[in-house]
Amino acid sequence: MTTPVRPINLFEYERLANQHLSQMALDYYASGAWDEITLRDNRAAFERYKLRPRMLVDVSQRDLSTTILGQSLQLPILIAPMAFQCLAHPDGEIATAKAAAKMGTAMVLSTLATKSIEEVASVGNQTPQWFQLYVHRDRALTRALVERAYAAGFQALCLTVDAPLLGKRERDTRNQFVLPSGMELANLATLTDLEISYKPGESGLFAYFLEQLNPALTWKDLEWVQSLSPLPLVVKGILRGDNALRAVEHGAKAVIVSNHGGRQLDGAIATIDALSEVVAAVGDTAEVLVDGGIRRGTDVLKALALGAKAVLLGRPVLWGLAVGGEAGVGHVLELLRDELDLAIALSGCAKLQDIDSSLVLRL
Ligand code: FNR
Repeated sequence: MTTPVRPINLFEYERLANQHLSQMALDYYASGAWDEITLRDNRAAFERYKLRPRMLVDVSQRDLSTTILGQSLQLPILIAPMAFQCLAHPDGEIATAKAAAKMGTAMVLSTLATKSIEEVASVGNQTPQWFQLYVHRDRALTRALVERAYAAGFQALCLTVDAPLLGKRERDTRNQFVLPSGMELANLATLTDLEISYKPGESGLFAYFLEQLNPALTWKDLEWVQSLSPLPLVVKGILRGDNALRAVEHGAKAVIVSNHGGRQLDGAIATIDALSEVVAAVGDTAEVLVDGGIRRGTDVLKALALGAKAVLLGRPVLWGLAVGGEAGVGHVLELLRDELDLAIALSGCAKLQDIDSSLVLRL
């Protein structure tokens, strides 16, 4: 008999999680769009960056804490917004929020969460929480979501701009992805009775986006989004310097370099490759964060060296959730934090401010 072994890295969490998930959930979490080229390249791109460590630096005392939007975090690793977390564990987004709070970092709650804004807010208030917004065709509904997030104590509004329509994830199409009965979009309860016109052989989420989300959103709508609350605006899904600058000109306080984990436009540039251009374009007018393919402490270090203030972690959080609920998410964050701590020490850095672009070289 083999003794169950506690995962020692995020890849082991992935393998273990796959044993806990239904095929439909596993495919929904893992998939990228079309040929999954961007999904793979988000990972492969990290290997093209080499570290140039400094030696003989006193790294006996180390500090991973930082501030984003003026909010204090114990580590530069936030939790990316991800829909439908109850597919991984019955406690879903509540477990994720608790783990984030314990680790002293921020969770971004998806519009498409399976736990309510208010429930999530009630567990995580030791650390900042952000709310991710999808702008729906129904403006009153969109407004209500933002007002609820603000009233519940969320501290930033993260507007996702890379999904005017949902990318085509063929595994979901094949599975005709739908939420299991009894699971719902907790913050869109008024919508659960809506008739979504599924095409035969189609993903239910694809159909939802087509019907409910506003594909006509443009830069000028950013002012409207900001008028809904005093929350600072973070624009997620930027892959170009000119777009990043435009987001800042329209009021964004931070941008997230993201290709939605390879789930939207397949063939889009790997995020770590897009980062430097965005950092150069915005300078010190806004903070830059990045997500996509972060699996090792050295990935975080490379992102910070290229100018990101912090990273967001996506799928590994779902793997932790599937394996062990709150404790699983907490352990995933701990593993990555400890790897980052070791990586910065081995690079001759004692704190995040010591990390600069000379540490990294693209070959
Ligand atoms: C996502 N992502 C996402 N983004 C967003 O803005 N709103 C959302 O509701 C979701 N939902 C979602 C579900 C699942 C299952 C995944 C895997 C991803 C994208 C997410 O925030 C992030 O950009 C990527 O997941 C980061 O890449 P990695 O870390 O998963 O490689």
